[in-house]
Amino acid sequence: MLIAANWKMNLDKQSISEFSKFLKNFKFSKKVKACIFPPMTYIDYLNNIIQNIPISVGAQNCHFKFSGAYTGEVSPIFLRDIGCEYVIIGHSERRILNGEDNNEVKLRAQSAIDANLKVILCVGESLIDREKGNAFNFIEKQLHESLPNGFEDSLIAYEPMWSIGTGKIPSISEIEKMHEHIKKIAFDVSDKKINTLYGGSVNIKNIHNILKIKNVDGVLVGGASLKVKDFLAIYTAAVKHLNNSSKVQEIT
Ligand code: 13P
Repeated sequence: MLIAANWKMNLDKQSISEFSKFLKNFKFSKKVKACIFPPMTYIDYLNNIIQNIPISVGAQNCHFKFSGAYTGEVSPIFLRDIGCEYVIIGHSERRILNGEDNNEVKLRAQSAIDANLKVILCVGESLIDREKGNAFNFIEKQLHESLPNGFEDSLIAYEPMWSIGTGKIPSISEIEKMHEHIKKIAFDVSDKKINTLYGGSVNIKNIHNILKIKNVDGVLVGGASLKVKDFLAIYTAAVKHLNNSSKVQEIT
């Protein structure tokens, strides 16, 4: 089980320092892994102040080359160098606002894997595609066109675009069916069982129901992860859920 906090372009150094103070006395469980994705400029800072806390750090994107004349870009090698374990690739905000298409997402994901980072590859349909009944085909195409080689240790995050930051989430059965669909496609491609996260308006109220969904191996949280109390409440919900269920913890 993985609880991943995507801070997007939020929280400055002072806020991160405040946030981290609350992590120091919190008892983390071996069963549930936590990873925080701060803004690039603070990854190293956060990693240093949480040295003795069992939380991983990750980046919100990386470039598809290891080095070169790419002004403003960040190499996956550099991320590894400063202690990142994970990198988010293909988030819908980057697809929409930065024009990253499936082909580019695949290149970035491949580069991250080649640099020994674990990728959280994001997929998710628009509201129009969902309403047209096209969501399953859309996700299938996204996966076929963007899954890199050697994906086995990585994860796929299902983040419907219409759910991000809106307070709206798909029904339990919609999430369950989509995760099953994603796992099946990923299995066909890689011959391995791939872990999937749900992302989109996850909060302290809906987390309990989301974690109960078959095939959900964790969550990718945006807005609610910016408040340390909410982040820890979501984490605690995951620990309680695992203690009460037979779900196997497979994310190492
Ligand atoms: P919200 O949790 O704010 O909807 O954001 C989800 C997301 O985009 C995580 O990557």
